[in-house]
Amino acid sequence: MALWGGRFFSGPAGDVFALSQSIEFDWRLAPYDIRSSLAHLAVLERADLIEVSDAEKIRSALKQMQKEVRNGSLTPSAADEDVHSALERVMTERLGPIGGSLRAGRSRNDQVATDLRLFALDHMLELSKIIIALQWAILSKAAEYSDAPAPGFTHLQHAQPVIFGHELAKHVHSLDRDLDRIKDWYLRTSRSPLGAGALAGSSLQLDPEASARDLGFDAAIANSIDAVSDRDFVAEALFILSMIGIHLSRMGEEWCLWSSTEFGWAKLDDAYATGSSIMPQKKNPDIAELARGKAGRLIGNLTSVLAMLKGLPFAYNRDLQEDKEPLFNSIDTLTLVLPAFTGMVATTTFDRAKMSVAASTGFSLATEIADFLVQSGVPFAQAHEAAGKCVHLCESTNRELHELSDTEFSSIHPGLTPEVRGVLTVSGALTSRTTFGGTAPTAVANQISELESKISASEKWFADKANHFSGMMGQ
Ligand code: ARG
Repeated sequence: MALWGGRFFSGPAGDVFALSQSIEFDWRLAPYDIRSSLAHLAVLERADLIEVSDAEKIRSALKQMQKEVRNGSLTPSAADEDVHSALERVMTERLGPIGGSLRAGRSRNDQVATDLRLFALDHMLELSKIIIALQWAILSKAAEYSDAPAPGFTHLQHAQPVIFGHELAKHVHSLDRDLDRIKDWYLRTSRSPLGAGALAGSSLQLDPEASARDLGFDAAIANSIDAVSDRDFVAEALFILSMIGIHLSRMGEEWCLWSSTEFGWAKLDDAYATGSSIMPQKKNPDIAELARGKAGRLIGNLTSVLAMLKGLPFAYNRDLQEDKEPLFNSIDTLTLVLPAFTGMVATTTFDRAKMSVAASTGFSLATEIADFLVQSGVPFAQAHEAAGKCVHLCESTNRELHELSDTEFSSIHPGLTPEVRGVLTVSGALTSRTTFGGTAPTAVANQISELESKISASEKWFADKANHFSGMMGQ
């Protein structure tokens, strides 16, 4: 059943209908469409725009349809154009002409904008739960390895030793920023377009603020044209989802590297690795690779929506129908990736001995030599030069720094007394880095406990919003 047609002599050509149809992907908006119809119905009823007895029938039909959508017994037909027309068709089939009453004062333009906001709010809340689960998994690994030395890298070359738990904990911080972005986005997105009609509001006595409250939004959108045109919330959500994907891809890259034969630091659990169809010995980090690879589509989805919005006239244009699949796809992608990734993190074990041996190689303690000289008043530039000479000598004689003799040290710089050996240990280098955010085991322990409180606070923030949301949806 088409929602329009009065002024046309013919229906759309078959290929036009196929092009404009969105039912294969927008049916998942049905629960939100029904819920916003209930809010619209309440407003129509309060304004005496609908008979009380009709309103009752429509309300119970909507509630019944909500049940059937949720249990899967109500599905659209191939001839439905979109979710809005499908649901109106069903209601009209069940109630006769009064099934079309809800169209008063409402357009698919404010309807679809409302549905998509509700969908996005709901799903970003769901996603935050599985992001938090990943944070807990990383944090518990960080705590497990909060005394394990490992080489730290810059340019993928040994730089300075770090505590491996510190290396892991950095990922909790990036995910924490992602959650902050979701919170910030949530507050901005919690605005209701319902009541904007096609673009200009309504001459009927509608009450957009009341429908906003009914739907759990913080407020109604203050400009009806903006209400139906704005898709910033889709683009912003897609950016947040891309950033999460990028964080997972960088972390995935570390997992690939650390589980390689050359590194041999990480051992993946069999349940979180895959084999090769031809090489029987292979154990591949496919989860990490898929996480890395899927960042591509997340960025693509963001790009497609930004490109669709660029230069788009206000208010509604059919181009906007292209906002849904990218959003759905990005949400589905992360919903798939995150739990597997969390499982992989939680079940990976690391080879402490190997990481610890590697921590002292590659001249990673050269900075300690320079800092040693600085402590005795040598300007850093000279200290750096002297430490560089030590490395040069080691490299040309194939030794590590602690293998230089006392005379070699003092001939490079008189300040390099035998005491320099005291700083040429990994544990010395680690315990001395006590600055806030540094890698000293004490600083890492503080960091881990701060992160624990941070994650618990996010958990509470998101749980409160989710309760509020599911209460509104009647779940
Ligand atoms: N399926 C459409 C969409 O997703 C619904 C809105 C249609 N509005 C219109 N004026 N044709 O955007």
